[in-house]
Amino acid sequence: MSDFEGLAALVTGGASGIGRATADLLAARGARVAVLDLDPSSVRKPLLAYRADVTDDASVRAAVAAAVTDLGGLDVLVNNAGVGAQGTVEDNDDEQWRRVLDVNVLGVVRTSRAALAHLRASAHAAIVNTCSIAATAGLPQRALYSASKGAVLSLTLAMAADHVREGIRVNCVNPGTVDTPWVGRLLDAAPDPVAERAALEARQPTGRLVTAAEVASAIAYLASPLSGATTGSALAVDGGMQGLRLRPAGR
Ligand SMILES: NC(=O)c1ccc[n+]([C@@H]2O[C@H](COP(=O)([O-])OP(=O)(O)OC[C@H]3O[C@@H](n4cnc5c(N)ncnc54)[C@H](O)[C@@H]3O)[C@@H](O)[C@H]2O)c1
Repeated sequence: MSDFEGLAALVTGGASGIGRATADLLAARGARVAVLDLDPSSVRKPLLAYRADVTDDASVRAAVAAAVTDLGGLDVLVNNAGVGAQGTVEDNDDEQWRRVLDVNVLGVVRTSRAALAHLRASAHAAIVNTCSIAATAGLPQRALYSASKGAVLSLTLAMAADHVREGIRVNCVNPGTVDTPWVGRLLDAAPDPVAERAALEARQPTGRLVTAAEVASAIAYLASPLSGATTGSALAVDGGMQGLRLRPAGR
């Protein structure tokens, strides 16, 4: 496949999990790809790597400027860096709320702000935000995380409206539970990791976790010049968790 031939892409949080799979896939499909991450030390050529913290506007601006110079432009921005939080609305203090919203929401704002002038110069500009099923379904113990991803969903729609006439498409993916190092850390911290994994698998009608490659494939679909009519959409990649209502097996 070569739909990304000649295009340049920047993936935040591209050193691990969904971001890494996305950076690898876009490169395999012909893009020149830069990764922006807190710790990009594991990123290997042909990917370019830039250290930046999406909560630090100066570091984002410097990394985006350096990446655009080295890539020779920018066509695709994947806003994927994010952190999790657990608990009900009673459980996280103000500092934790500020921290998670700073990474998951303002992080998208900062990279988009730094990238937009460059995207306007592209004939195939696309932004894809990594949102979550937590934006569209009420999940227990995820008050703060869900609020942050709900904001990402609304921001995706607002940005799509603001920039459609500039030729910049903006969409998001809503993954279910994805088998990434992040979920591995959550499982490791559970009292019974095997039972916890089984519960997460059973929650998704496909009976398994989503793979990072499957989310990367959806991000590439939305970012591709072949999807030029798709903007302001949220693509579920959740094993049917949002849309399906199954009866218990065998009944
Ligand atoms: N894994 C899941 O089940 C799941 C489900 C739905 C949505 N998501 C979303 O997918 C995205 C990626 O998750 P993942 O599972 O691949 O996680 P991950 O922890 O494997 O990777 C996240 C990457 O983001 C980077 N990062 C974190 N904070 C950063 C910051 N302040 N500045 C720059 N980089 C930063 C990390 O260094 C890491 O490389 C997140 O936005 C997450 O909310 C994940």
